[in-house]
Amino acid sequence: MLALVTAIAAAGHDEDLAPLLDACASAGLHARAVAWDDPTVSWQQFDAALLRSPWDYTERLPEFLAWCDRRDQQVSLLNPVHVIRWNTDKHYLSDLATFGIPVVTTTFVEPDAEPLQALQAFLGTEPAPEFVVKPTVSAGARDTQRYARAQEFAASNHVARLLDQGRGVMLQPYLPAVDRAGETALIYFEGSFSHAIAKGALLQPDAAALTAPFAAGDISSRSAGADELALGEQVLVAASRLLRLGQPLSYARVDLIRDDGGHPRLLELELIEPSLFFAQAPGSADRFAAALASRLSGDTIRARTGTG
Ligand SMILES: Nc1ncnc2c1ncn2[C@@H]1O[C@H](COP(=O)(O)OP(=O)(O)O)[C@@H](O)[C@H]1O
Ligand SMILES: [Mg+2]
Repeated sequence: MLALVTAIAAAGHDEDLAPLLDACASAGLHARAVAWDDPTVSWQQFDAALLRSPWDYTERLPEFLAWCDRRDQQVSLLNPVHVIRWNTDKHYLSDLATFGIPVVTTTFVEPDAEPLQALQAFLGTEPAPEFVVKPTVSAGARDTQRYARAQEFAASNHVARLLDQGRGVMLQPYLPAVDRAGETALIYFEGSFSHAIAKGALLQPDAAALTAPFAAGDISSRSAGADELALGEQVLVAASRLLRLGQPLSYARVDLIRDDGGHPRLLELELIEPSLFFAQAPGSADRFAAALASRLSGDTIRARTGTG
């Protein structure tokens, strides 16, 4: 049986869960939705656990990673635990950049830095009229805010607040193409491209940072550009080499925004708990369930024959 892992706090928020349960049933795969933080779950009943919406992990990271390590001893965790660990912290963008991936230009500010100095150093080299402050561990645009250059002090207070909490901070130019064309998310199952969606801009000028745990975006289906698809493939190849994967990722979402030159840049690679937007792509939940069913039957055969 397959566990579709959510969180107690995410109850009712994961729109992909019901369609995936239905699709698994149609594919002959026994699946059940369970919360990672529900102490009453007996995990021995599952062969595999697919992380779907453990969306409070950013607030409970050490506890969540310890949970992943424990599960990894018992079940096949999808994606694997070392992938999850790497993907929880957006310093992974630097790793991908060293593999030649065009990421959104990012300056990392570490907890021991002086906030105003770090911000002024960033603004000294970054000509963009607006910029973004966000934590290195984040999801759903939480604690993420857009600033004009003139808002240096407000932004440095934001940086200081995050650093005081012991969190790393990222500074990026605000890419205005997101206001016109949104962001593109490319969704892959078992390494194969499934579908793309467009997500409207989430950050308004002069708006306070979001604190709600699950920000709703303005989502529509999109046919991805050839350049976006090419970059998506490049990102998956780079991740697979970096993480020394012997098998494709069970799922991956590649989020891109175009820069001022019109070229797609990587905003995020989501390997832990991405929304997969089944509702915007008919047939996509069935594709995923079929991919999962064939992976799990392969795993069972390998376990029985002792190969792989
Ligand atoms: N550099 C940026 N330029 C334009 N918009 C951005 C930028 N960084 C973040 N955003 C906006 O904020 C949202 C959340 O940021 P993101 O980097 O995706 O973090 P999260 O992990 O919280 O989803 C994005 O979907 C996008 O709308
Ligand atoms: Mg995002």
